[in-house]
Amino acid sequence: MNIDTLKNLLTRAASAFEESKTLVELRDREVEFLGRKSEINVFLKTLSMLSPEERRELGAFANVVKREMSVACESARVRLSELSFDFEKDRIDVTDTEGKLPVGHLHVLTRVHRDICVVFRSIGFSVADGPEVETEFYNFDALNIPADHPARDMQDTFWIVSELGRDRQGRSKRLALRSQTSSAQVRYMETHTPPFRIIVPGKVFRAEATDSTHEHTFHQFEMLVVDDEASVGNLKYTSELFFSRFFGKAVHVRLRPSYFPFVEPGFEFDISCLVCDRKGCSSCRGAGWLELGGAGMVHQNVFEAAGYPRDRYRGYAWGFGLERLAMMKYKISDIRLFHGGDIRFLNQF
Ligand code: FA5
Repeated sequence: MNIDTLKNLLTRAASAFEESKTLVELRDREVEFLGRKSEINVFLKTLSMLSPEERRELGAFANVVKREMSVACESARVRLSELSFDFEKDRIDVTDTEGKLPVGHLHVLTRVHRDICVVFRSIGFSVADGPEVETEFYNFDALNIPADHPARDMQDTFWIVSELGRDRQGRSKRLALRSQTSSAQVRYMETHTPPFRIIVPGKVFRAEATDSTHEHTFHQFEMLVVDDEASVGNLKYTSELFFSRFFGKAVHVRLRPSYFPFVEPGFEFDISCLVCDRKGCSSCRGAGWLELGGAGMVHQNVFEAAGYPRDRYRGYAWGFGLERLAMMKYKISDIRLFHGGDIRFLNQF
């Protein structure tokens, strides 16, 4: 190479960069004129073979040419970057709060859950909590359901492979996914002295086959009231007050004798059909009533398990399925829709 060919190389490179129409094309030209195997870099590597005078003259000039080529390439890159940026289209108005991004909303079960808590708080209840992974003691034994009791079969339980032993008080440490929110009753009583009124909302699990009204994972709402003179009348009144406020219309509660080991007497409780108010229609299959949960007066054995003196207190409790309540409120025919992930269903609420 000589001075002229170097000048010529610079002219060719500058116009190639200048004429590039896209950043990709420019990148190709850059590799061609400034890459490892480009003319200028190959020439610079051979400088050592020239005489000292030639090296001094041509070497210095070749470096100037290379620098000029880089400058031409960079200015072409800036030009093309600006071209590819559509200021109008890509403008971001940082003061725009109209929210163009699609935002989600609360799941229908979360909304029903919150509505229930609001109503209960408005009538003086506190919201309590309990663990989803629970010991056999709180889920069964403390609730007057010993190991060999047939009532254990009423709820198919997901047992967790764990220690089978007992703690210092002789309580089973075996773990399960709780099958009912009633498991929180004794836990709460152990750390609180009556009078109190609580609800315990939460997830429960049962090893059941699913169908349109049964899930293996669902939610329950436990209500527990303990004081000196709680009665079945109070249970009925509180239930009617809650359901009437929740549904925004008068709702009647019917108690039918039933058996749960942790209450005595025990009831199945129904609420009056929201469509026909006890007359009988297609949505209640002519019954006039809808079955919702279990209830009763707290068994003295449960108070004893919590460390309360026998016959000192009286209490009432009930537990119902949150999904079943949501299904009644929104006329949903299949419980599996709640967690089916079908966005068309979820968007309706
Ligand atoms: C119980 O779980 C008792 N712990 C309720 C109770 C509390 C009785 C306090 C007395 C005192 P049961 O197994 O019936 O009871 O369930 C209560 C409610 O949970 C049912 O009425 C129903 O609404 C709901 N439920 C039960 N199993 C399922 C299921 N597989 N899928 C959806 N909801 C269910």
